[in-house]
Amino acid sequence: MSAPIAVLSGASGGIGAHIARQLASRSYRLVLLGRDVDALHALQRELPSAEQSFHIALQVDLANDADMSRVIELIHDIGRCDLLVNNAGVNAMVPFTSLSREELDATLAVNIRAPMLLSQGLLPILAQNNGVIVNVGSSFGAIGYPMQAHYCASKFALRGFSEALARELSDTSVQVKYFAPRATQTAINSDKVTALNKALGNAMDTPEYVAKEFMHLLDSTERRRSVGAKESFFAKINALWPKVVDNALAKQLSTIKQYMR
Ligand SMILES: NC(=O)c1ccc[n+]([C@@H]2O[C@H](COP(=O)([O-])OP(=O)(O)OC[C@H]3O[C@@H](n4cnc5c(N)ncnc54)[C@H](OP(=O)(O)O)[C@@H]3O)[C@@H](O)[C@H]2O)c1
Repeated sequence: MSAPIAVLSGASGGIGAHIARQLASRSYRLVLLGRDVDALHALQRELPSAEQSFHIALQVDLANDADMSRVIELIHDIGRCDLLVNNAGVNAMVPFTSLSREELDATLAVNIRAPMLLSQGLLPILAQNNGVIVNVGSSFGAIGYPMQAHYCASKFALRGFSEALARELSDTSVQVKYFAPRATQTAINSDKVTALNKALGNAMDTPEYVAKEFMHLLDSTERRRSVGAKESFFAKINALWPKVVDNALAKQLSTIKQYMR
């Protein structure tokens, strides 16, 4: 019986590398995606593996359709895919009026378009093995946050996509899950964002912890998991009484503005 195959985007990043370590310890064979090929190769060498070249590192720009087609073709050649983790993401804390067209396009391409295209391309092969798709969203996929309008738009979309696709596929063997970390200590957050979280008393998790939370979702029958009791509570309040969160964030706005790019 061959090892289960997991395709993991954003493997060169903070959360992705720890998800990779967790999955490798469960004997998955990983297809590691990212642009930083040195980081991918370093991770590839470090991961436990059954044989040489067990894990595959693939340099991929998720904003590039030809690169995404290469991933889909490779997996079809391998002939098996048990898990797709759409984890890659970009963000910047920036006033919407200062957001460049390039940043907007990159955010939508990486955070929502790529997960949709990879899911579509790999679904036929995922369906052969009771496959699972996990989309890595954010607490900002449920709470609109100032200076993150583009990021929130992409993560709200990712949450909606995950929910709709899970329901569409509920009479098949494929599961679609949505995982929402809160602020985490990785390179996606600039020093200013880290300082803002400190100023507001917002917790920042380690990526090791977040990867363990990810595994809890993967192991469960649940379709969704959010990290952090406070953030999950705010998401529920935001859904039921958005005005309460409007008012709370209005009070924080002048502080938030001090830390934007
Ligand atoms: N850290 C947080 O505070 C936080 C909170 C909530 C949700 N999240 C979500 O968690 C996920 C992982 O983020 P992280 O915190 O681990 O950030 P990170 O360390 O910056 O990692 C981001 C990953 O995305 C990849 N990526 C970005 N643009 C890409 C592109 N055009 N093509 C291919 N890969 C690309 C990066 O790879 P290369 O640089 O090699 O291209 C990197 O592996 C993201 O979806 C993020 O939105 C993070």
